[in-house]
Amino acid sequence: MAERAASGAPCDETEALLRVAERCMPGGVLGRHRYPAETDHVPVEGSGARIVDSRGRSFIDYSCGGGSLILGYGHPAVVEAVQTQAARSMQFVSIRNPLAIRLAERFTGMVRWADRVRFALSGAEAVMFALRLARAFTGREKVLKFDGAYHGNCDYGLWNAGPAADGADGPGSSSAAAVPGSAGIPRAIEDLVLVAPYNDLEAAHRIVEAEWRSLAAAIVEPVQRSYAAHPEFLAGLRELCTAHGVALVFDEVVTGFRHALGGAAEVFDVDPDLGAFGKALGGGVPISAVAGRAEVMDHADPRRGGAASGYAYVTTSQAGNPLAAAAALATLGEIARPGVLEAMHASAEALKEGLRDRIRRRGLEARVVGFGPLWDIAFSREAIFDQRSAARADAERLMRFHLGLIRHGVMVRAGGRSYFSTAHRESEIEETLRAAERALDEL
Ligand SMILES: Cc1ncc(COP(=O)(O)O)c(C=O)c1O
Repeated sequence: MAERAASGAPCDETEALLRVAERCMPGGVLGRHRYPAETDHVPVEGSGARIVDSRGRSFIDYSCGGGSLILGYGHPAVVEAVQTQAARSMQFVSIRNPLAIRLAERFTGMVRWADRVRFALSGAEAVMFALRLARAFTGREKVLKFDGAYHGNCDYGLWNAGPAADGADGPGSSSAAAVPGSAGIPRAIEDLVLVAPYNDLEAAHRIVEAEWRSLAAAIVEPVQRSYAAHPEFLAGLRELCTAHGVALVFDEVVTGFRHALGGAAEVFDVDPDLGAFGKALGGGVPISAVAGRAEVMDHADPRRGGAASGYAYVTTSQAGNPLAAAAALATLGEIARPGVLEAMHASAEALKEGLRDRIRRRGLEARVVGFGPLWDIAFSREAIFDQRSAARADAERLMRFHLGLIRHGVMVRAGGRSYFSTAHRESEIEETLRAAERALDEL
């Protein structure tokens, strides 16, 4: 074939690679995402808002490393910080180091409600630590989560985490039946996880009032998937949790350092007791954080003694490793520069307005979704504000739209929402809108 990989290698090297992947990896993939043959791709490098795959095809990329590449690919500040630190040391086995200490200072300076922070590696790990701290703090065991919320791969997060048909309990019921999103999750955990419909304060009230004596935490995504919390929902949850001694946990893995420098708490003006961060924090290098009020976080102080005295085990060998801390300091330094985050938000709104216009002109039964610098289309007539309204949108049509975008040079996560980075500018938006027009016309 005439096509050659970016490295100059013939294309059948891609086929050979994919055959190895099929042989050595479950499902031939690294995680969950598999693309139909025509849109399958093996990315080899990225620059700014663009990636190139092993067949030499170039795409404008909105997968953005699952939202971690908030500055785009190969941002010079992050690359330089990582290269410099890699030569000095990548690890000190969770021993304090200057970069991690400076990062903790910067983090707690930016996130107004965070007195203390402990670093980890993945968003799920930060969520797991937040829930453990909430249990240690309250002496209770149960967790309330919301239908459709994704909190990572941990056993407590994977209940009603994905798109589901209407359950036995309708919206507003006092407890939606919890459905595990994976085999291998102990049944015993089901008794500890309560699920409520998102944006339904009345249902949350009913559950908390019935269960608060055993309820350690309510965990919520302030922006759940493509839709945001109604402001009164978060404010109401805050009041409810305070009144019943339940820890309010914000999952800021998506919103942290993206929707505002201070995360969703700043956007909605509601402060949680604890929060989990990840993704954008490291600018592409794996790092996450659990943060919170001193009173709660200090359960992770090793001077506390054993579990009987309330000590919560919150660490990992690579906690605060200097490589990730260097990347995070560089990333936070860049996004804190005046106008940087605002420009990214403005670009995101320009793309979404452009998409709205294309949909309107075609008279399509669809709406642009995505709060802040996130975007997608829902093929639905109704407003999307919770899992059930999201599940009623036409998922098959959306998949065809996504695959069309990829065919026309715009990489999105097929079936998932798209992210923005500071590297997406006017020219990328124009190109994306041209691809979207073609993909919409082909539906
Ligand atoms: C809201 C939210 N929380 C937690 C996670 C888990 O993060 P990670 O994949 O880094 O474990 C994700 C990942 O997409 C997420 O979107």
